Amino acid sequence: MVRIIAAAVAILTLGRQASAEAAGGFVDRCAYQGANLTDGHWLGIYCRNKDTQIFGYNYTWIDLDYCLGNSAGNLISYSKGNFSGSCNNCTIAHDDSTLAMSCVCLDTNKQYRKSTLDLNTTIHDSNGCAGCFDHFGNKTWEGP
Ligand SMILES: *[C@@H]1O[C@H](CO)[C@@H](O)[C@H](O)[C@H]1NC(C)=O
Ligand SMILES: *[C@@H]1O[C@H](CO)[C@@H](O)[C@H](O)[C@H]1NC(C)=O
Ligand SMILES: *[C@@H]1O[C@H](CO)[C@@H](O)[C@H](O)[C@H]1NC(C)=O
Ligand SMILES: *[C@@H]1O[C@H](CO)[C@@H](O)[C@H](O)[C@H]1NC(C)=O
Ligand SMILES: *[C@@H]1O[C@H](CO)[C@@H](O)[C@H](O)[C@H]1NC(C)=O
Ligand SMILES: *[C@@H]1O[C@H](CO)[C@@H](O)[C@H](O)[C@H]1NC(C)=O
Repeated sequence: MVRIIAAAVAILTLGRQASAEAAGGFVDRCAYQGANLTDGHWLGIYCRNKDTQIFGYNYTWIDLDYCLGNSAGNLISYSKGNFSGSCNNCTIAHDDSTLAMSCVCLDTNKQYRKSTLDLNTTIHDSNGCAGCFDHFGNKTWEGP
């Protein structure tokens, strides 16, 4: 438990240092071409670290429930928005410079409607770790 708290404090400190990156912008620094969406809300992606000594990419699993919300049927960038409670059938698709997430989300009339959000508005790369707002995903060396 003590170790977990220490890790959380370290992450919060990192979050302050990385605050300039908190508003998205990961597409220049993460290999979005190899992104993986699992269980509808876990995004896996390779992101680049800044350390020139160990320069490389780390793979991150980030729970997009910490990053996205559903506002009246529209996917939005929202801290701890927990979109997956009311959005389904999500897919990701990239072109040369964006990674778009599409889902069907319940609107105010309890009807599903399709909504798409450019994840570059929300996800940032903090030294090899993908994050959103003050949340960071789990960094590992290799992806699936
Ligand atoms: C991604 O986001 C960053 C930061 O908001 C912005 O500077 C950049 O132009 C965006 N890139 C694309 C391709 O949208
Ligand atoms: C999001 O909502 C679902 C369904 O209501 C719940 O199971 C899950 O624990 C929530 N996740 C978060 C991160 O709040
Ligand atoms: C989700 O996809 C499944 C399989 O394609 C489909 O049967 C279902 O109707 C979709 N759900 C919504 C809410 O569109
Ligand atoms: C990743 O982090 C989440 C909390 O954000 C945790 O619930 C989950 O168990 C972690 N998964 C792995 C594989 O470490
Ligand atoms: C991240 O990548 C660096 C090399 O670029 C490696 O030294 C480090 O162990 C990786 N971190 C994790 C958690 O896998
Ligand atoms: C995405 O990741 C999951 C979980 O690790 C894996 O089972 C699946 O094969 C991956 N999908 C692709 C297309 O790489």
